Amino acid sequence: MGGLFITFEGPEGSGKSTQARLLAEFLERRGHTVVLTREPGGTPIGDQIRQVLLNRTNQAMHPRTEVLLFQASRAQHVEELISPALKAGKIVICDRYADSTLAYQGYGRGEDVAELRRLIDYATGGLWPDLTLWLDLPVEAGLARIAPDRRNRLDAEALAFHRLVQAGYAQLAAAEPQRWVRIPANRPQEAVQAEVRAAVLRRLTQPSPAK
Ligand code: TYD
Repeated sequence: MGGLFITFEGPEGSGKSTQARLLAEFLERRGHTVVLTREPGGTPIGDQIRQVLLNRTNQAMHPRTEVLLFQASRAQHVEELISPALKAGKIVICDRYADSTLAYQGYGRGEDVAELRRLIDYATGGLWPDLTLWLDLPVEAGLARIAPDRRNRLDAEALAFHRLVQAGYAQLAAAEPQRWVRIPANRPQEAVQAEVRAAVLRRLTQPSPAK
């Protein structure tokens, strides 16, 4: 019997990291063993790749280089941390995962989504989340929460790019309604966390759908 793989998705400034941490603490209080992690990164090798990806001086990075570096970080993450934890029956909570590649590199940058799915499957061995919590909020509201001098290479993209990413999330969520839960995030932190917990508790008490 495997564990449960939960991911958070959404734009910058949507509060994913805070919500993920609050969820981890809640589940631990209920007696679950939780691994809280993030992408890009999550392992020592992944964190080195993260530096290259987010460094704002790397303006020359080609879109295919970007795609492959995200998958390199993810491959290491799945092998070293996520899969072993799931096999041990733990709950893994990941702040961003493969859907970020589809939303940002696919819908945002215009890389071919079917091709990206093949690369993701190669990187992950076909591991997709059991539950994806999409913290949705207006693009401007999210960006306004990050000071301009703290924006990473992807945050610093034009507004039009972030709108494409948001539309991408909407398409991904609509295509897999059994996996995705959309949570409006332009509200107080406690209200968002209440919905996050409710979605996870529903999933924990449901028998897993045949994959
Ligand atoms: P991060 O500093 O973790 O910010 P955030 O709070 O937005 O999660 O930055 C991660 C950035 O990388 C973010 O702009 C989204 C982007 N990203 C991709 O473009 N593709 C991916 O596959 C992943 C995992 C992240």
